[in-house]
Order: sequence, then C-alpha cells, then structure tokens
Amino acid sequence: MTTKMEDFNIPSLIQKKRDGAEFGKDEIQYFVQLIKNGEIQECQIGALLMAIYMKGMSLAETLSLTGEMMTSGEMMQWPEEWCSSVVDKHSTGGVGDKVSLPLAPALAAAGCKVPMISGRGLGHTGGTLDKLESVPGFNVDQTSEQMVDILKTVGCCIVGQTESLVPVDRILYKMRDVTSTVESLPLITSSIMSKKGAESLSALVLDVKYGSAAICKTRESARTLARSLIQTGTCLGIHTRAVLSKMDSPIGQKIGNSLEVIESLECLKGRGPADLRELVECLGGILIWMCEKADSFEKGRKIIQTVLDNGSALQKFQDMMKAQGVTPEHANTLCQTENYFKVFKPSKCKEELHTTQEGIVNEIYAMPIAEVLRELGAGRTKTDDPINYSVGAELLITVGERVTKGTPWVRIHHDAQKLTEAQKSLLQTALSIGDRPVSADNRISEIMIPDSISWSELNGDLDSNRNYIKQNNLV
Ligand code: URA
Repeated sequence: MTTKMEDFNIPSLIQKKRDGAEFGKDEIQYFVQLIKNGEIQECQIGALLMAIYMKGMSLAETLSLTGEMMTSGEMMQWPEEWCSSVVDKHSTGGVGDKVSLPLAPALAAAGCKVPMISGRGLGHTGGTLDKLESVPGFNVDQTSEQMVDILKTVGCCIVGQTESLVPVDRILYKMRDVTSTVESLPLITSSIMSKKGAESLSALVLDVKYGSAAICKTRESARTLARSLIQTGTCLGIHTRAVLSKMDSPIGQKIGNSLEVIESLECLKGRGPADLRELVECLGGILIWMCEKADSFEKGRKIIQTVLDNGSALQKFQDMMKAQGVTPEHANTLCQTENYFKVFKPSKCKEELHTTQEGIVNEIYAMPIAEVLRELGAGRTKTDDPINYSVGAELLITVGERVTKGTPWVRIHHDAQKLTEAQKSLLQTALSIGDRPVSADNRISEIMIPDSISWSELNGDLDSNRNYIKQNNLV
C-alpha cells in the first residue's frame, strides 16, 4: 500500500525522525513543500531541524532533501554551447579567505564561465560579497538575465543569492541559526549543494577547511563533510571534487574587507602571498582539468599560473568590476596602479603590536585576530549588522620567521580612538613563538575525488543518477 501526501502530518514526521527512523522521499517532498508555501509553523520547523540534527540522515535522505530544496525555486539555465564549461568553487569559510576574488577571473581568462554565487560574512569568517562591496559601486544584486549577459561578455560574475534561488534554504538557514542546528552534516550538505545544484554547474570544486578557525576542527571531520558533499554533488549530476586545506592561520597577510581586495589585486598582478597563490592555482587547476580544458591537474595549474602572470586574469577582474557597476576610473585605478586608497576609504587609525619575546614564529592563530576585527566593525554578529570596510589587519611577519623581542608583528586598521587593553591582550594570544625551526607548510593537504564505497546506500529513486555516474566513469 502506498502512502498519499494527504496521509502525512508534521507531528508524526517529527516523531518519526525523533525516534531515529528514515524518511522516505515523499515525506521529504511533503515537508519541503510546506516550508516553501509557508504552511508549517516555525516551532515545527525548529523541532524537525533538531530531530535531524540529533538523529542524522542517510545518504539517500540527504540526497532527497537536497534535490527538493534545489528545485524549490528557479534553476539557472545556460546556453547549450557552455554545457561543459560552467564552473564554481565553494569554500566552507576561513579567515582572510579571499580566494574567490582572483579565482573567478583567472578561470574566466582560461575560457570557463563562472557564475559565482557567494554569501555575506557571519561569525568570524568574512563574506566574499562584503569584500566586493567595499569597492565603491560594486553591485552584487544581479538578476539571472544580467548574469547571463555578464558571462557572455566577461566570463565571470560574483553575485548574491537571488530571491528566487533555493528559497527553502533561506528559510531553513535562518532557523538553523537560532535553533543551534547549524553543525549538522546532512543540513550543511543539503544547504550548500542545493544552491550549487540550482546553478546548473558542469564542475564544482569544494575547499573544505579544517583547523582551529574552521567549522571542521579536525582533518577527519573535514574528510567526512567533503565525502558527503562529493557524493551528493555527483548524484545531482555535478562533476564534484574537493580539497582539504588547513585553517589555523589567516590566508595571506591581509584580513578585513578592503585590505583583502587589495591583496587579491596583488595576486592578480602576479604578486601577493604564496599561500593565496597556491589555493588559487590548485583550485583553478582542478576545475580546468575537470572541465577538460587540460588533460591533467598539473597542466590545469600551469594555465592558471599563466593567466595570473600575463595580466589576462587581472583584465577579467577589471571588466567584471565595470560590468557590476564600478566606474571605469575606479576599476582602472585599482587594476592599473597601486593607488588603492584613491578608491578605498582608509581607516582613521593604524596601530602596531610588538612581539613580547624573541624566537621563531610557530603559528599565527586566526581566531583571536578575527574576533578583535569583528568587534572593531569588520564583521557581523547578527545578519543585519553594518560593516566597516576599512577595518582590518596586516600581518607583518610570517610563520617560520625569526623575530627579536619588540618586532612589530601586526598593524590594525580601525576607526576607534585606541585599541583597548583587552583587545591588545587577545591579539597577543594569536602569536606563538618557539625556539625550534618550523617551515610554513602547504595549505592544501589532500585532493578528494568521488569514491566507490558508499553508493550502495542509494535507493531506487536514484537510478538516473546511478546511470550518470556509470556513464561518466565517476567510480
Ligand atoms: N554554507 C552554507 O551555505 N550552508 C551551510 O549550512 C554552511 C555553510
């Protein structure tokens, strides 16, 4: 006997998950529809989220939830001739993570189409949209028609999620934030992958971070998240790979919205810090390889190196800024000169802190720096908090460097009168100095591709995905 939609009711679904049972595809379809149509009470959404958080979901349930969320709104459509070159990257978030800014134009310069849909910062991590909005005039609100036009002429755009894209994620994400249900593997997976699925991508690379300043504190938990994202993406028909990268110290030497745009411009000019360049080269190289514009990862990486060094990625960034509302004068000043503060408003104060002992820099922890910067206005505690784009930090030393006592190690840009003693003390905890030599390791520790272990968990609804997986030799 098959169950009809009208036989379902929310209290019994909450009870079912509370007691650890598995939802069927039709049950997931039922509650996602109610959420979309506003026909479920907020307390019921909260209870359902908590039950999912506590009892988890199988791969098949996660996949059904992701699919239902993905199709709860508009699905982006691209011209046929782009079918194998529409690519994107997703990062699980880090301090100083500005990789999207140089990566999108570098991929466009290599012939890809990059409709990058990004988010705003919340908590200790900054958001790509906030960074770009520090450039006067940059407009992240673009309709899907405008996105197609920009992709036709420039090849990349970086925009916010439109109202019509995955509306159910918008509702669930807000609820998760206030019900302490953010850190749930199926909920994170469905939230990220429903949005990527709605972008109708040919290839996606995920940068799953682990460490003291990441959602995943250990490499093993990052591997579990990466595997869940890869499996779900692959089943949705998106060619998906992931890297695991370390997130203890900030990426690059600059943190804070306008300072991070400046560091991204340096990277696009073939300069800038080595770790930022490594992430852009590797993530870009993987995507170029995945969409078969190169027949190996190494060759893909070489293409990214070339477009960063020959100015073509920089030209794409300049064109993207103009297409998204920045005046040609400002775009030209940022890309063709180093007079960055002719465009950005500088902070009122700059204050340096000094090392309190001599030795070798073992680690620069990102969390204390991010916390102080957020307090000074660089980030948000609540979604509607305003941002001060000028606030930021410049690291003046690097891991592995020998320092004497009293060496300036960080310059804080802020608009407060003075840093408080509490802020200075917290900042000093970011610095770990020892007497044994250390070398600055690579950021990326592992590249993950779809594996064959878990596909047997999938149920009969997923035949078409299985065929796709087989035809594309993904396992
Ligand atoms: N990013 C998302 O979009 N959703 C999550 O749940 C976590 C990170």
